[in-house]
Amino acid sequence: MKATATANANIALVKYWGKRSTDPILPQNGSISMTCNGMTTTTTVEFSDKYKEHTVIINDEEFKKDEKDIHGHIDRICKIAGINLKAKVISESNFPVAAGLASSASGFSALTMAAAKAAGLNVSSKELSIITRQGSGSACRSIFGGFVEWHKGEKQDGSDSYAEEIVDKNYWPDFRMITTIVEVKKKPVSSRGGMAQTVANCPYYEGWLKTVESDLDAVRTGIKQKDFLKVAETAEYSALKMHATMIATKPPIMYWIPASMEIIHSVRQMREDGIHAYFTMDAGPNVKVMCLTKDEKEVSKRLNELDGVVRTILCTPGDGAKLVDKHLF
Ligand code: DP6
Repeated sequence: MKATATANANIALVKYWGKRSTDPILPQNGSISMTCNGMTTTTTVEFSDKYKEHTVIINDEEFKKDEKDIHGHIDRICKIAGINLKAKVISESNFPVAAGLASSASGFSALTMAAAKAAGLNVSSKELSIITRQGSGSACRSIFGGFVEWHKGEKQDGSDSYAEEIVDKNYWPDFRMITTIVEVKKKPVSSRGGMAQTVANCPYYEGWLKTVESDLDAVRTGIKQKDFLKVAETAEYSALKMHATMIATKPPIMYWIPASMEIIHSVRQMREDGIHAYFTMDAGPNVKVMCLTKDEKEVSKRLNELDGVVRTILCTPGDGAKLVDKHLF
């Protein structure tokens, strides 16, 4: 009853921001992301009657309960599998956790796949994305590789709210997502708390919802046509609209720090200089920059020259979550 899975983080091109239900987690809007090769979490799960409680160790630190209830998620998987056992979980990520870098996406998808396998569950990828979604919304997209859409669904039981691959990682290998690391401190407001506050208190939230469908259409079509400008322009705009709703909530949520602005202005300057580069940001200060292979070297060089950038991670479209043979313990 032991299994190990690896999963990549994903960065949304059309953002998920807001829930219509917290139990089960169901989104207000659909979203589209790229699964990022190079930002990976590996997780080993073992169920045994020798364990008296769940133990979860993430990057060498014991994980205590927080709002992203990992222990509850393990119980959920046990219940679906019809077992009543405790688990030992060891998880390692090769990038900073909880800095708006979608670590929970790779973490929850690797955990769900490994735990489902260790618990003897035999489910489809679609089912796996539905189970993953109940742990953390955006994580359901990391079950799949390449470019992925999370359908918001309509039903209250969540059976129609799942992720699906639009195209696999080999369809558009030229697409680049360059993640800048500006600081590795833990973020002040979680994405979960931030989106709840926005839905409850932002007067512009309805406006956000009104434009999401057309952004989804543009990005989905743009990906299929490999139309970089259509995808990247829409993605940048989706991120800015999401941050506008955060800023206009009460109390305001602001993930931007001077280094974030430095990167954004540098990307806008790149465009002035004829380089096709666009940015996106999630619930943290790090900025991710989209470009194509032809501009990758110049964009990386310019980003690494900025004072606020500690380092960059270059991502191509990557694999979905998968089981591996090598256990972490
Ligand atoms: C800004 O998936 O972390 O990254 O469902 O509460 O776990 P929960 O939230 P989470 O939110 C991610 C928000 C985002 C946008 C995105 O990835 O689509």
